[in-house]
Amino acid sequence: MSAAPDSSTEVIRLDELTKDYPMGDSVVQALRGISFVLGRGEYLAIMGSSGSGKSTLLNVLGCLDSPTTGRYLVEGTDVARMTDDQLSALRRTRFGFIFQSFNLIPQITVLENIEVPLFYQGCHERESRRRATELAERVGLSHRLRHRPPELSGGQRQRVAIARALANDPGVILADEPTGNLDSRTGIEIMQILDELVIQGRTIVLVTHERSVAEHAHRVIHLTDGVIDRDECLRQERR
Ligand SMILES: Nc1ncnc2c1ncn2[C@@H]1O[C@H](COP(=O)(O)OP(=O)(O)O)[C@@H](O)[C@H]1O
Ligand SMILES: [Mg+2]
Repeated sequence: MSAAPDSSTEVIRLDELTKDYPMGDSVVQALRGISFVLGRGEYLAIMGSSGSGKSTLLNVLGCLDSPTTGRYLVEGTDVARMTDDQLSALRRTRFGFIFQSFNLIPQITVLENIEVPLFYQGCHERESRRRATELAERVGLSHRLRHRPPELSGGQRQRVAIARALANDPGVILADEPTGNLDSRTGIEIMQILDELVIQGRTIVLVTHERSVAEHAHRVIHLTDGVIDRDECLRQERR
């Protein structure tokens, strides 16, 4: 991966994207015509109140869910044209996911949690162990390698989740309320780790309803009822 972010390289393009959820006789229109382009190395926050469509948008971006209408292009390729195998490969290799509730496997160790994506990638055991150890070090967890998630604090759990998200060296990190379950001081530490990832050239899409968290980003897209009502530039990304 290139160390120098280059925002002129398009990573993500959404074109009039919609997402409906059928609910019995009615339909919830979670996204109603979303369009934007995201360049490599950009740091985007998506803000909006509860129910505005933030998680739905992030799930579509991560190919965890498919749009109802409109187009979604990843590095110029329309995901609607991809087979299921191509989509799961795209998810594994291009995206790292971080969730509010950490989503770790409680029965296995820190190292093993970080190794999960490496296992699915067919990585050899020794290489996988080496890489997971290095990632744990990077997020400041060298002293907790053999612990299991229930033995860790919230901040430590989120660090494990970040290390796991980085395991396959994805270009894009998708984070849904990553500080939502943390106290404010621990939240700031987690945001500092994300800031570092952007400096190293990753692209981040961060969902939050907190202004102070969104202010880490270069750009904030404000969602109301599934529509972008403001696209705000906070600072130019590093060149
Ligand atoms: N799986 C689902 N089935 C039906 N409705 C859903 C589903 N997921 C989300 N919604 C609805 O879509 C809207 C947007 O939800 P969501 O994307 O979770 O918002 P946010 O993350 O901003 O709180 C809400 O009205 C929510 O109730
Ligand atoms: Mg949400």
